Amino acid sequence: MKLAIFSTKPYDRRFFSEVNTNHKHQLSFFEARLSLETVSLAEGFEGVCAFVNDSLGAEVLEHLAKGGTRLIALRSAGFNHVDLEKAHALGLTVVRVPAYSPHAVAEHALALMLALNRKIHRAFNRVREANFALDGLMGFDVHGKTIGVIGTGKIGQSFIQLASGFGGKVIAYDPYPNDTLAVTYVSLEKLFQESAIISLHCPLTPETHHLINQASLAQMQDGVMLINTSRGALVDTGAVIEALKSGKIGHLGLDVYEEEGDLFFEDLSNKVIQDDVFTRLLTFPNVIITGHQGFFTQEALHNIAETTLTNVTAFEGGTGEYFEVKYEA
Ligand code: NAI
Repeated sequence: MKLAIFSTKPYDRRFFSEVNTNHKHQLSFFEARLSLETVSLAEGFEGVCAFVNDSLGAEVLEHLAKGGTRLIALRSAGFNHVDLEKAHALGLTVVRVPAYSPHAVAEHALALMLALNRKIHRAFNRVREANFALDGLMGFDVHGKTIGVIGTGKIGQSFIQLASGFGGKVIAYDPYPNDTLAVTYVSLEKLFQESAIISLHCPLTPETHHLINQASLAQMQDGVMLINTSRGALVDTGAVIEALKSGKIGHLGLDVYEEEGDLFFEDLSNKVIQDDVFTRLLTFPNVIITGHQGFFTQEALHNIAETTLTNVTAFEGGTGEYFEVKYEA
């Protein structure tokens, strides 16, 4: 199939080209993000492969359908950026990569948690300047603490397994509890009240939009550590900034940000960042932000390319054995 792959970086090209030797699709790599301005590039391509910050709203989908596209192959697990109703109406099939390495994201969440607690980001800079003073670097033992996990799907489960190794208590909330997991499910309210550390592993949906807001923050312990490696809009950034200023949040680790589409995956080091909310977040000593790199391991990139191209092959062959994102009215 002729496949237009948007938002590509050198690492995408490498893994897709390697894996494609077994699939033999006609791949065209575009650096541009898919948007109304760039959608014309996809004209004549039966398949379009998109990533998390590509626009797949109604208008873009209309253009794609008009240009002959029949398949939207997401190379992500999340699909909150696709207008599924519109895709369905236009007869476009949407496929995704449901799991490529839950361990990659769970391990990154853990990395943020430990780096924040032991202030590795600050220690790294100090030692490079021959400043070996420890003042301001004190952390706490994770051992004996309660860790709250919101969302116990693939990544949440992997995180629970890792977090259970600390010898504390791990509690979880999920509207669809998994009885096979060795974790204590509690209400969301109880999780907010009891956790010293909270890690978000649920998808972004209308129900979870701004799950972390002024009201939920008020229920949490003073000095709580919050980790978000899921989707930026799970968190009301304004409320979080106020909570950092008041000390309600003691540590914040983000791999995702509500308005990340204008920032992440690009080198903006020579530009002036226009997002004042984001730059305010960067000023806190107890905040670590990474630019949506939770998924970014060799294993995950290989699996993403493999599942995406297998989806495309199965769609083309009409086997139906692909990971479709179905529209539910
Ligand atoms: P999954 O679909 O396996 O699990 C999601 C879980 O969240 C399910 O158990 C579901 O029941 C639960 N859930 C649904 N609504 C909820 C609610 N209102 N409150 C609490 N839990 C709720 O998804 P997976 O693979 O574990 O991924 C989780 C999220 O991680 C994705 O939706 C995506 O946004 C994010 N992600 C981030 C990456 C990164 O690079 N930072 C990479 C991959 C995924």
